[in-house]
Amino acid sequence: MRWTTLRTEPLGLSRGGRLTARGVPILVLLVMLGGCRVDMHVQPSHAPLDRSEFFADGSSARPLVPETVPRGFLREDEHLYAGRVNGQDVTEFPFTIDEAVLSRGQERFNIFCSTCHGATGRGDGMIVRRGFQAPPTFHQDRLREAPVGHFFNVATNGFGAMPDYAPLVPVHDRWAIIAYIRALQLSQHAGVEDVPGEERQQLERRPQGQ
Ligand code: HEC
Repeated sequence: MRWTTLRTEPLGLSRGGRLTARGVPILVLLVMLGGCRVDMHVQPSHAPLDRSEFFADGSSARPLVPETVPRGFLREDEHLYAGRVNGQDVTEFPFTIDEAVLSRGQERFNIFCSTCHGATGRGDGMIVRRGFQAPPTFHQDRLREAPVGHFFNVATNGFGAMPDYAPLVPVHDRWAIIAYIRALQLSQHAGVEDVPGEERQQLERRPQGQ
C-alpha cells in the first residue's frame, strides 16, 4: 500500500491531517490508555520494615534464615577480620604495610582518632581538651609492647569509655590506622641510632644548641 492511498478517515483524521469530530474521542481514549500502564516500579510494594497484614507476625518480610551470609560478607579470615587467632591477639599485620597504606592510615587516624588521642597519640585531642575522658598515651611501654591485634580489637569493638569504630572505619582502614599508630610510637621513641647514617653525621656535626 502506498501512502497516498492510505485511508485515514476511520482513524479520525481528515485527508489534510486534521482532527475530525470522530477523532476527538479516539484521541481521548489513546491518552487514557497511556495511563493504564502498570510497570514494576509502580506496583504495590512494601518499604523495608513496613508493617503488613500478609504474614501472621505483622511484618512485611521474612527474617533471615539463621547462619545466612550475604554475598561479600563471608569473614573466614580471622586474622584480617578479628585480629585474633585462636583467642590470641595477632602480632603481625594481615597484609603488607607499604607507604601507601601508612599514608592512608595517617589520614584516617587524623580523621577518626586524633580528636581524642591527639595528632601524636599522647591522648590530648581536642575533645579531651573540652572535657572528654583522656585516653592513655600510646607512648608507654604497655602499649608499645601490645600486639597489633590488641589495637585492632580496641578499634573494632571499643574499649571502656571509647566507642567502637567498626561501623565507621572499614577493616583495611582500621589496619592502616594501626600501622600508623606503630609509626607514631616509633617516632616518639627513637634513639639517635635510628637516624640513617648520613643524616646522623649531619646531626653530630651541628654544634650544640642550634
Ligand atoms: C571519642 C574519643 C575517642 C576516639 C575518637 C578514639 N578513642 Fe581510643 N580511647 C578513648 C578513650 C577514652 C580510651 C580509654 C578508655 C578506657 O580506658 O576506658 C581509649 C583507648 C584506646 C586504646 C588503648 C586501649 C588500652 O589497652 O588501654 C587504643 C589502642 C585506642 N583507644 C585506639 C583508638 C583508635 C585506633 C581510634 C580511631 C579509630 C580511637 N582510639 C578513637 C577515646 C577515643
